[in-house]
Amino acid sequence: MRKKVVIANWKMNYDFHETTSFIRNFLKIVFEKKINHNKEIIIAPSFPFLHISNQISQGTTLNIAAQNIHQKEKGPYTGEVSASMLKSIGVQKVILGHSERREFFFEKNNVLLKKIKIALKYGLNIIFCVGESYLERSNDQQFEIIKDQLKKTVFDCSSDEIKSFYIAYEPIWAIGTGKTATFEQAQTMHEFIRSLLLEKYGERISNRIPILYGGSINDFNAKDLFYQKDIDGGLVGTSSMELKKFLKIIQS
Ligand code: G3P
Repeated sequence: MRKKVVIANWKMNYDFHETTSFIRNFLKIVFEKKINHNKEIIIAPSFPFLHISNQISQGTTLNIAAQNIHQKEKGPYTGEVSASMLKSIGVQKVILGHSERREFFFEKNNVLLKKIKIALKYGLNIIFCVGESYLERSNDQQFEIIKDQLKKTVFDCSSDEIKSFYIAYEPIWAIGTGKTATFEQAQTMHEFIRSLLLEKYGERISNRIPILYGGSINDFNAKDLFYQKDIDGGLVGTSSMELKKFLKIIQS
């Protein structure tokens, strides 16, 4: 039985005060009501607040993830953050391949593969995002797009390396649009991704990799999505920024 996972991706939102007070309040409620029992909860705040977020959540079941790393180990890359820097402050997870990174920062599969390798080198777990655009889905190309994205990145990894992954299926047309994939659409794609994992890594491994859905998850649709056989949880943007909604999603 795979564990359910809920990840909050706060993107470029929340300052120091907002970040720390959200996490403190979240932990207080979760502790008092024992609501994250048997689930893995991860929050991905902005770089400047990773250290303090990690300190606040020390000794709790909450995990902290970064939203990005640079593909090089170190060097003259002004403004960038390396995997080893994250490791040195105790961060253990990183989101890679998000469609916003692909679109606004022109991260192609070859760069993402380098990021994967450097993350693995420093022992980081990777939340790797894949997703098709609206046009690609309209042309019924979603399966070949997802297969191609995985083949050129994640599937370059060995059976040992793949154990460090969470895969997040985030259809681009559903991100921040309020237009969620139906649970049938999401389950079909998750089943497809699982079948690719099976083909490449065999049954034991394919059964243990969490495949998360992302794209306009809210406190109303989460239950139907999470109930699906191959949907192991969610990568949540907008609705993770309201404590009440985020808690409801976790309880779903
Ligand atoms: O990574 C989470 C994400 O892109 C989904 O965002 O706002 O549609 O929940 P949102």
